Amino acid sequence: MPGTKKVFVKTFGCQMNVYDSERMAESLIPYGFSETDRPEEAEVIILNTCHIREKAVEKVYSDLGRLRQIKEERRKLGKGTIVTVAGCVAQAEGAEILARAPVVDLVVGPQSYHRLPDLVFRAQSESRRLVDTNFPEQDKFTRLPDRTAISPPAAGVARAASAFLTVQEGCDKFCTFCVVPYTRGVEFSRPVDSVLEEARALIRRGVREITLLGQNVNAYHGVGPDGRDWSLARLIRAMSELEELQRLRYTTSHPKDMSDDLIDAHRDVARLMPYLHLPFQAGSDRILAAMNRKHTVSDYRRLVDKVRAARPDIALSTDVIVGFPGETEGEFLQTLRLVEDIGFAQAFSFKYSPRPGTPAAKLEEQLPEEVKSERLQRLQHLLASQTSRFNEGCVGLTIPVLFERLGRHAGQIVGRSPYLQPVHATGARDLLGRIIPVEISGAGPNSLLGVIRAA
Ligand code: SAH
Ligand code: SF4
Ligand code: F3S
Repeated sequence: MPGTKKVFVKTFGCQMNVYDSERMAESLIPYGFSETDRPEEAEVIILNTCHIREKAVEKVYSDLGRLRQIKEERRKLGKGTIVTVAGCVAQAEGAEILARAPVVDLVVGPQSYHRLPDLVFRAQSESRRLVDTNFPEQDKFTRLPDRTAISPPAAGVARAASAFLTVQEGCDKFCTFCVVPYTRGVEFSRPVDSVLEEARALIRRGVREITLLGQNVNAYHGVGPDGRDWSLARLIRAMSELEELQRLRYTTSHPKDMSDDLIDAHRDVARLMPYLHLPFQAGSDRILAAMNRKHTVSDYRRLVDKVRAARPDIALSTDVIVGFPGETEGEFLQTLRLVEDIGFAQAFSFKYSPRPGTPAAKLEEQLPEEVKSERLQRLQHLLASQTSRFNEGCVGLTIPVLFERLGRHAGQIVGRSPYLQPVHATGARDLLGRIIPVEISGAGPNSLLGVIRAA
């Protein structure tokens, strides 16, 4: 009896949250829910939150302010609403959220999503406000509903051609700036069989590209069908044999876990896309040590050389933090130098944000906001020029594009290049879900324009 009740989910933060949001929405389908993009018509509203930087948390509280009105208007119409805070803010702040935001009915941490339907019904029937942020002994993946049992998206909704698949959760690295080890718990890899089974279910739904996810996905070590621990490289090799799965990606990688067998996979596995997100965070060894990143700048340079030797056309992407406590102008210039030397196709850069409970937040020498902003601006200027240069370098080439969605203009479809750039082209809707050669005719700062050569 699908579709009589509605759930609205808004996702903040990383791809792992995008994946979790899908699983949460799916877990309510057997109870008569379907997804809506209008919170006003939803019996259950879920904010899947991120705690990584202060700004991300502020956004959640400002959204909760708006939801108060929606809930009140629904109440006047005699309709109940369960407002749920899920994700990393839920884990980090727990019951505090109930005190700070009276609109919230339910707080559920990332390891408790298999209990979501039960919690929703208890919150509804008992009119109680509930918090579940336990780290259970059994992982949520084995308890969430089997994805094979869930029907594909409703008619009229384009089938997703690309999907995320979380293979690893948590983090044991404890970088001194980061909340993830506290919000996601200890590192845990899913067994190979359960990953492959989920991949097959996604492929049956029309998925042609899978991105394997984990906070340190290249540290993956799930138990294989042979009883041994499999590396990410071995998992990728097994997945590349799934027929109809045409593209594989993985993210996020830690430089310390970038093993030779994974680098070899970039050379050998044609379906593994030539794109690597490899955060370096800072260009100075002193700052890297203070961050507890467990690698040096020259380790990073060496790694990039090896990866490029294995797969010369690989596009590199990274994360960078500016203004870590005590960072000098000279140390910041070392960050710029590293960026200049390596050349990134894509990058995400952030001002250091002190996070409660993390060691770096307690350091003296926190830098003034103006210094961080000014450094970020200089860094982003350089990174943007590298992205533009990379995109312009694609003009004139014919590259395979996996088309994923309709564009904003009539007759336009949008897909992704192997290097993850969005590519816009004129083409029919039935090309969605297919990989087609496209001649790149133009480049913008964040996307490409192309002409379909053969369908
Ligand atoms: N596991 C990944 C990072 C996940 S968080 C890794 O180790 O690379 C995504 C990015 O957010 C990080 O790479 C870092 O650049 C940034 N980040 C994390 N904590 C931050 C903080 N306190 N302030 C600013 N940026 C932060
Ligand atoms: Fe955070 Fe470091 Fe773990 Fe990445 S490796 S999630 S930055 S603690
Ligand atoms: Fe944010 Fe949690 Fe992801 S803190 S980046 S949503 S793991």
